[in-house]
Amino acid sequence: MSKTKKRLLFICLGNICRSPAAEGVMRHLVEDAGRSDDFLIDSAGIGNWHVGELPDYRMRQRGARRGYRFDSRARQFCAEDFDRFDLILVMDSQNRRDVLRKKRTDDDAQKVKMLTDFCVNFRGAESVPDPYYGSDADFDHALDLIEDACARLLETL
Ligand code: 4NP
Repeated sequence: MSKTKKRLLFICLGNICRSPAAEGVMRHLVEDAGRSDDFLIDSAGIGNWHVGELPDYRMRQRGARRGYRFDSRARQFCAEDFDRFDLILVMDSQNRRDVLRKKRTDDDAQKVKMLTDFCVNFRGAESVPDPYYGSDADFDHALDLIEDACARLLETL
């Protein structure tokens, strides 16, 4: 099998709440669809504050209630990620600005998409809001948006 893998990178600010959750949800969906071999899925953060850490315990806990295991280690986004990935999915418009600041070519910029552009049930949502300073409900809402968008994203790939 010489089929090329689709390489997806999810981005948020700290890489401990939203993007590791999106990575885990997407991996779960891809596995359920029997398409694991077709995908390379990763996540990264704009900042470097949490590099090496597991996802925030609240996101791990809220995810576990839905059957997910979020256990990636945080890392920082870098310009080389434009070479390593086909699609770079950001959680909000500040993430998009920060990622685009590192672009080298128009091809780089074309790879960057808002995750919420794929929402169906939450059509019109403009971001996955940062739950870091929020409540359990904010973490659940982030997961609702992520699940909705990732399901549609998979259909398009
Ligand atoms: P995330 O949430 O971008 O969804 O991972 C955040 C996590 C940590 C911080 C900000 C947002 N922080 O400032 O440390």
